[in-house]
Amino acid sequence: MQPMIRLTCTAALIALGSTALTGAGASAQERRPSADEAQMRAERTLAQMTQDEKVQLIHGTMAVVVPKPRRPRDMPMGAGVIAGVERLGIPPQYATDASLGISNIMDMRKGDVATALPSGLSLASTWNPALLRAGGRMIGSEALAKGFNVMLAGGVNLVRDPRAGRNFEYLGEDPLLGGVLVGAQIEGIQSNGIIATIKHFALNNQETGRATASVNMGEAAMRESDLLAFQIGIERGDPGSVMCSYNKVGGIYACENSFMLNDVLRRDWGFKGYVMSDWGAVHSTEALLAGLDQQSGETVDAKRWLSTELRPKLADGRIPAAALDTAVKRILWAIYAKELDKTPLGPKPIDYAKNAEVALQAAREGTVLLRNEGALLPLAKTVRSVVVIGGKANLGVPSGGGSSQVVPVGGFRVIEKLSDGAAAVFSRRAWGGSVPLAALQGALGGVQVTYLDGSDAQAAAVAAKAADVAIVFATKFSTEAEDQADLVLDGAQDALIDMVASANPRTVVVLETGNPVAMPWLGKVPVVLSAWYSGQRGADAIADIIAGTVNPSGRLPVTFPASVAQLPNPKLPGADLPPPSKEDKIRYGVNTNSPPFNITYPEGSDAGYRWFDRTGQKPLFAFGHGLSYTMFRYSRLKVKGGRTLRASFTVTNTGGREGADVPQVYVTLPGKARRLVGWDKPMLKRGESRTITVMADPRLLADFDMPSQRWVVKPGKVKVELARSATEPVLSTQATLSAQKLKP
Ligand code: GLC
Repeated sequence: MQPMIRLTCTAALIALGSTALTGAGASAQERRPSADEAQMRAERTLAQMTQDEKVQLIHGTMAVVVPKPRRPRDMPMGAGVIAGVERLGIPPQYATDASLGISNIMDMRKGDVATALPSGLSLASTWNPALLRAGGRMIGSEALAKGFNVMLAGGVNLVRDPRAGRNFEYLGEDPLLGGVLVGAQIEGIQSNGIIATIKHFALNNQETGRATASVNMGEAAMRESDLLAFQIGIERGDPGSVMCSYNKVGGIYACENSFMLNDVLRRDWGFKGYVMSDWGAVHSTEALLAGLDQQSGETVDAKRWLSTELRPKLADGRIPAAALDTAVKRILWAIYAKELDKTPLGPKPIDYAKNAEVALQAAREGTVLLRNEGALLPLAKTVRSVVVIGGKANLGVPSGGGSSQVVPVGGFRVIEKLSDGAAAVFSRRAWGGSVPLAALQGALGGVQVTYLDGSDAQAAAVAAKAADVAIVFATKFSTEAEDQADLVLDGAQDALIDMVASANPRTVVVLETGNPVAMPWLGKVPVVLSAWYSGQRGADAIADIIAGTVNPSGRLPVTFPASVAQLPNPKLPGADLPPPSKEDKIRYGVNTNSPPFNITYPEGSDAGYRWFDRTGQKPLFAFGHGLSYTMFRYSRLKVKGGRTLRASFTVTNTGGREGADVPQVYVTLPGKARRLVGWDKPMLKRGESRTITVMADPRLLADFDMPSQRWVVKPGKVKVELARSATEPVLSTQATLSAQKLKP
């Protein structure tokens, strides 16, 4: 059995006010130059630069388009290339994707591989900031070893619609959970002396219309949801860069949206780093005046807005030189603050076996036991035969498609050509990494474990009937650039599961999906595990949990709806539009997948479980839900109100084995939906008790008041619940808050 790496489950103690939330990881800050020192160095360097050198810093291309003879010796094949200024010691900026490991899909032919973390929803299912930090540190070390010093990682767009194609990359539907986890991930990445880029700023919550749609949402709702996730992530992770998104917000493209980039990001939040565009998200040179600092992947845009188009406007003053200086200073600030100038670029050897252990632990903690009727899991020692069915479980585990896709160590064993949709260009339905069948054979030593690919449901049912237990691996592909039409598993898997479960009531379904899915067969299936896209060692994690060597501790970071009828938008916005016209594609660029349209999210700031609470609907599986092989009792909930909200409680492991729990604290303000205000993840031995204290970030006890432009905490009583999930409160009490106003 692999040694368990115990990453101390750092309690996500959300301390009051801005103290703990503004401090990025203390260790990272101690070693690093202060923000002021970095600012002084940036100003000194700027003063020595020529205009050409300044312009050189604010636009980049992709490695693959740099003609071979002109490729710098140290230039790795990645997403972004920006030359440095050697005479001034300014390093080049070599950028790679993304949050799940080094994405190398553009260069698969070269056999370049990297350690694949589990997907973002799996990482979020761990509810463990320490693990996100360890994962970020690991992928950041591989980025550096491969010669990259900018990592396009820290995707934290909220899951608003469970059909959105990139949800698998992100960290769920709650701003606090997402913000705390992405902040830890960014800290980990930047601990390598490289820049991380929190993304995609902002409200890029779906793929349909990503280049043409405008998300129209009230400012208060934005600040209380998607923007709050970014704000917490920036406060805690202190990223060197923010990536502005493709979409429009309130009719103005995010990458030239002065309200978002100058007012919110800089005036209100004090962000000191630089804003880079997404690849193909720039639409004007004047974006430089609206808060954009760097055009990424300029060949994907219609024009080289921050180079060829900029120079004449600098010459005749339409763009003031001060605007160029401001952008360059921010880029230099990040280079010095994150110590890129002191971090030698690779190549360096990589210990993939050691790095895979981090991916294994992440998958172990990110797998969610949704249902375990009759305690069928962990498999009893009396089980003598298991048939594994479907999901290409004899070849590896699936991954999500698009720019975050990592070719795992060992490569992909299966790559399927996609339909010729928008994603077909750069997305692959692929399987690789550890192999579930082999992992189960290893973990269930002595048990006969056979495999059928599931293409013949009848044969699968016969095999299931003949076995003690049937394990069906069920997949649903998700990718950047395309949303999903529905919540249905790919192909005929629902029918397959139904037939297998009808043939053998001892059936386990392992979901390998990029999103919540529908489960029409749920009544017949006693056990459901959500393993998401489980990464480099995911199969080993799944086998550990099925065999019982690991006690599952994952909790859902997203709501599984019972049907799309429960969603704020039963029809995904833009799903019924015709394909983009030729003119649309020319006008809006290569990422165009629809004509222009407006997106409204009726839930406003109440994304996910808050919407279900507000509308009184019962989901299939709730945000925060997840089962364990042991049991936990909650007791002694005590709260203290006033200017803070402090909740303390005791968790006791009353079951038969060690395990980690995720007690969650929710607050319900009068007339509002409940909100997560804190959690912890104690690992408890049998019989062990621990008293935990959680303090709420007052912004979660407030509403954003537009006239005063302040977070306003209203005085009065609020409900405080200690819960196992957003729909399973265990203890409840009241606290009295005093009035409070906080700067945005
Ligand atoms: C992509 C993505 C972004 C990625 C970038 C570079 O289209 O939107 O997340 O970092 O381009 O690959």
